Amino acid sequence: MIRTLMTAQQLYEKLKDIKLGASVCQYSLKKCEELIPLINEINELKEEQNAVILTHSYISPEIIYGVSDFVGDSYKLSKDALTTSAQTIVFVAVRFMGETAKILNPEKEVLIPATLDGCTLADSINAAQVRALRKEYPGYTFVCYINTTAQVKAECDVCVTSSNVYTIVANIPNDKIYFLPDKYMGENLRNHFKRRGLNKDIQYYNGVCYVHEEYTIEDILKIRLEYPDAKIVSHPECNSTVVDNSDFVGSTEQMLKFIRGTKAQEFLMLTECGLSSRLQAEFPDKKLVGSCTMCKYMKSNTLENILRVLKNPTDADRVVLGEGIRLRALKSIEAMFFYNK
Ligand code: 13P
Ligand code: SF4
Repeated sequence: MIRTLMTAQQLYEKLKDIKLGASVCQYSLKKCEELIPLINEINELKEEQNAVILTHSYISPEIIYGVSDFVGDSYKLSKDALTTSAQTIVFVAVRFMGETAKILNPEKEVLIPATLDGCTLADSINAAQVRALRKEYPGYTFVCYINTTAQVKAECDVCVTSSNVYTIVANIPNDKIYFLPDKYMGENLRNHFKRRGLNKDIQYYNGVCYVHEEYTIEDILKIRLEYPDAKIVSHPECNSTVVDNSDFVGSTEQMLKFIRGTKAQEFLMLTECGLSSRLQAEFPDKKLVGSCTMCKYMKSNTLENILRVLKNPTDADRVVLGEGIRLRALKSIEAMFFYNK
């Protein structure tokens, strides 16, 4: 028996300040009344089945505020996946994040409700390509972004996320680094070490995030003219001109922390719309200016599909990894925890 059921009014109180983006991202009391039976059914099933829901910040607000147990960036969620005692993890994000949870928790069932399977970064490189690059770059430490498949992680030495990439690369005792697959993060990494006067030879692959690739310096200049006090906040998946002209650069969780800790009132968020919605819900007095971009993979997660995977999971919904690949991918994730200090 579930402890507390949510009412439509309680849900509406959490979502009413979200105003940015398309009408699907805005909430009336009537819309909350329509959503609440589904939300309560999921919450009841979750409890019955000893399941938890881990949700990335880019996901639709009715999922974040209606059914999620943990919300955050890819690093925080990988730590959360380690701490839960639940038998089933529903990973509401994209497949590579669910795979990371499975690599860390082989005995748990990990379910993925996204109906559009992908991420332009994770899809940009495969294991055979990494093996070929390793032959081309002998003596380099291969650092992979968490936005990669388990097979690619298994071919690399150290995994990183947007929240720890600079710290980890600084701590790796090798000056020769091959970073994959994001070319913009690679470029940002190279610039970062050059600015600090640190001697790191950083080579990188040519993948991109199609959401963050859209942002340009023109977006920043336009906002600076109209809102001179606005803080420009960007993700390291943006190109280097955008990053170099931002007031703050970090993972989705770090952006939230920055906004929580500053007295500034106006922000241009150069990242996926879900984070902007989260900001509006949690900081209704702060003003977001400009627009945002949606990730079709993240936004393919729906309440309906969360309910379906809890009730009736198919083989395609389950993360299944061969033990050999899992153990090799685990090494690169453990190396991330080791060097993140
Ligand atoms: P974060 O680790 O910052 O949440 O980034 C994940 C991601 O996919 C960004 O596009
Ligand atoms: Fe991948 Fe970009 Fe979507 Fe993040 S926002 S999941 S990097 S496509």
